[in-house]
Amino acid sequence: MRDQLFIDGAWTPAASGQMFDVTDPSDNTVFHRVARGGADDIDRAVAAARRAFDTGPWPRLSGAQRAEVLRRIGDGIAARKDDLARLEVRDNGKPLPEAIWDIEDTAGCFHYYADLAARLDNDATQDIPLGAEGFTARAVKEPVGVAGAIIPWNFPMLMASWKVAPALAAGCTVVLKPSELTPLTALELGAIAAEAGLPAGVLNIVTGFGPEAGQPLTEHPGVDKLAFTGSVPTGARVMAAAARDIKTVSLELGGKSPLVVFADTPIDEAVEWIMFGIFWNQGEVCSATSRVLIEAPSYDAVLARLAEEAAKIRIGPGLEDGVLLGPLVSRGQHEKVLAAIRRGVDEGARLIAGGGVPKGLEAGCYVEPTILADPPLDSWVWREEIFGPVVCTRPFDTEDEAIRLANDSKYGLAAAVMSADLDRAERVARAFRAGIVWVNCSQPTFTEAPWGGYKHSGIGRELGEWGLNNYLEVKQITAWDRAKPWGWYLKG
Ligand code: NAI
Ligand code: MG
Repeated sequence: MRDQLFIDGAWTPAASGQMFDVTDPSDNTVFHRVARGGADDIDRAVAAARRAFDTGPWPRLSGAQRAEVLRRIGDGIAARKDDLARLEVRDNGKPLPEAIWDIEDTAGCFHYYADLAARLDNDATQDIPLGAEGFTARAVKEPVGVAGAIIPWNFPMLMASWKVAPALAAGCTVVLKPSELTPLTALELGAIAAEAGLPAGVLNIVTGFGPEAGQPLTEHPGVDKLAFTGSVPTGARVMAAAARDIKTVSLELGGKSPLVVFADTPIDEAVEWIMFGIFWNQGEVCSATSRVLIEAPSYDAVLARLAEEAAKIRIGPGLEDGVLLGPLVSRGQHEKVLAAIRRGVDEGARLIAGGGVPKGLEAGCYVEPTILADPPLDSWVWREEIFGPVVCTRPFDTEDEAIRLANDSKYGLAAAVMSADLDRAERVARAFRAGIVWVNCSQPTFTEAPWGGYKHSGIGRELGEWGLNNYLEVKQITAWDRAKPWGWYLKG
């Protein structure tokens, strides 16, 4: 396990010499310490990224040459899948099969953006028909510069790849600040990138706390672009910092995403996707469908089955065989989620499953899969992101009512609809005010498809070609045909 910062291709302690604890949430033991980066370290990292961008080879390579390095990074991640997944489990708590899935997707993300980097050699230049005689014009895409990437703890290495892979594909250089709750796999990414031949300074990684390392990165004049995933209040701070010197900014923030279940959905099918939508990854998923609206005729039957199945979920340490629900990431998150459940009950929701710490697992950050039925529409639990294995349910009578309730949120990250009537599902999918819509499923995510939110859930899109465009500026080059005199001042 690494414990130093990765700056300008070298491993280095924090300028302050300080370290901070890395905790395993399955039993709250401290199993490692890493460098506590601060403003001085961010200065060094940005200076290295600046040099690598302004005078280094990386932005000047062809897309095909960058693609070779990106592919080797993807291969390097895939080759170490098992140990990276185990590291992720210890740091984050998630069950091992989910961590393996994350690491496979992380490798896949680098492979995908390798292909897009190679395509840039053709796609970066586009002729523009002007309809004006004597002029020709092109639009040329170029890397935006030094990118500052700040990521959360729920999918630590995968979230790093969603920013680092497209940024590198575009020809940007990067300073990455992982979450203080899960810093370890990001450091391994630095090592893998170096082994893959990424030039020094192109990817720099500074571990540390938000206010100490994240904020100086957002405020640094040497950074051209900020990419952030995390909570709305921190996202607002990132955007305010970006405003000072007009950095471009992309934000992927929280959600309170609805899942609308029509009564023509078989109960098994509904229960499976409701559960996957909120219990997968302990519900620590920005797009989790945490508000479930169920058509009245099947409400009681779906709830009864949901409560029965939720109680059967095997809870335990992520490395234990057969576990489907691990601990939450930290004591802080544990307390926050338990407080949210109590608040929901105080507000009038009916607790119909879970609600507490599972017996025998008191040493870790575990929360039972929890169902809160019928919270009032203006209650905190119905409106705010909990970020834990807690689902709120309500019945509805008509399609219009379902759409209105689904869209009645300040968030707009994701939404889902289940119905055997695919015309109806399509109507509802179109009516959702959300950036990601699932039909007859919830949560499956693909590197090729755009990811991001409406309203308070963010700005911009990651993944797919949209993710690459985040890290590209567009330049127009317009030329005049010298054979023709312009003849405005010099009338010949
Ligand atoms: P956070 O938004 O504060 O942290 C995310 C990242 O931002 C971390 O790397 C953190 O160090 C950094 N950060 C914190 N303050 C910063 C600042 N002033 N300037 C720059 N960077 C800063 O989220 P946190 O505290 O980890 O979790 C709080 C809540 O946020 C969760 O309970 C959950 O509701 C939500 N959340 C949402 C996520 C999503 O994917 N949408 C991911 C993680 C958390
Ligand atoms: Mg941890």
